[in-house]
Amino acid sequence: MFRKIFTSVKKLHGLRHDVRTMLLRTFPSLTQKPVSITISVNDICNSRCTTCYIWKNKDAPQIAYETICGLVKELFTQIGPRNVTLTGGEPLLRRDIYDIIRFIDGKGGRTRMLTNGLLLMPSTIDKLVENGLRYLTISLNSANPQVHDSSRGIPGNHARIMEAVKYVRKNHPQLKIEFVCILFRDNIMEIPQMIEYAKSVSGTISFQPIRPLLSAHKHVEQKDATATFVSLLPDSKEAEKAMDMMGKYYSRGEGAFLPRSYIERYRSYFKDPFHLPKKRVDGSAISISSDGTVRFNRQLPPIGNVTRSPLMDILSGDEAKRQLLECSKAEICLCDFDPTPQDIVQLGKDTLAQLFDEKKSVLPSQSNH
Ligand SMILES: C[S@@+](CC[C@H](N)C(=O)[O-])C[C@H]1O[C@@H](n2cnc3c(N)ncnc32)[C@H](O)[C@@H]1O
Ligand code: SF4
Repeated sequence: MFRKIFTSVKKLHGLRHDVRTMLLRTFPSLTQKPVSITISVNDICNSRCTTCYIWKNKDAPQIAYETICGLVKELFTQIGPRNVTLTGGEPLLRRDIYDIIRFIDGKGGRTRMLTNGLLLMPSTIDKLVENGLRYLTISLNSANPQVHDSSRGIPGNHARIMEAVKYVRKNHPQLKIEFVCILFRDNIMEIPQMIEYAKSVSGTISFQPIRPLLSAHKHVEQKDATATFVSLLPDSKEAEKAMDMMGKYYSRGEGAFLPRSYIERYRSYFKDPFHLPKKRVDGSAISISSDGTVRFNRQLPPIGNVTRSPLMDILSGDEAKRQLLECSKAEICLCDFDPTPQDIVQLGKDTLAQLFDEKKSVLPSQSNH
């Protein structure tokens, strides 16, 4: 009986994409409403991460405050307020970051900001909260200070994050704290400790496997980027054990929402990290780079640039339509996950928990990179 229901759900899931493609062909405007918007507000950084070259940029284009306000206003007016994720580079290096957050909040949006935590002093946190930040998302690569600091290249970064988290919990209990952790060679066996830490501060955590470093960087040769990536990859046996460990956390149901399909996807990624599956898009997420380039996700070619055209024109433009129609050819689906029966049960529990405002400890990983 349960299997039958499950098979039907899976069939429906497959059908959804066909229906979406058909709708898109007939009524293009119906299916292009982004629910999540990520804006890279700059492309410079004060960290020295081993996993990312952005800090090597000496100067880089920065999307203007007016452009951000314009696109937020346009989008919210057309389709209602949305969640906006501000990332970078390091967003806190922008002096007007508070103005940006206040503007989005004033228009009814909810802002999440991703940060390396280096500038998270009490006065900064107070200003972020006063201006309407809802989610503080901190990159944390380890519960062990040495491991975190060496991966970020800045001694004392871990201690600063710990202090910042304590300060938030004491002074701004309503501010949601999320951690994002890249899984790589030095932290792959630390998943339980990371989950425990996140839970201990009423935060949530998501995991993202290390991805190839952006080789397009002008200061870095492709072969050096590849060599660095290879040196950061976890040992394959350890990766296998770590994925089993994640699975146990999942099946113990520690208030966690970590779909089994994600774990399986990570497992196969670690077996063959040079094979990046082509992601499927449905237009529900868009990402805007610091020079204004708009993409459905960072793997895909641009669909336009907000410094040259209104966002709604870009979303209904020819390139956007072409990419959306191609989505059925992709190998994996980004828009949602291929659910197992346990995922469906867990999703139900998670929804109920959210309704009753319970704390979750693990969120599905979202690619921020
Ligand atoms: C590019 S950073 C920008 C925001 C901010 N500077 C920070 O580090 O949180 C966005 C996220 O990408 C992650 N990241 C960096 N290098 C990565 C890699 N090679 N693979 C996967 N994620 C990576 C970072 O840890 C961070 O969580
Ligand atoms: S991951 Fe974030 S903190 Fe690290 S160099 Fe890249 S932008 Fe900077």
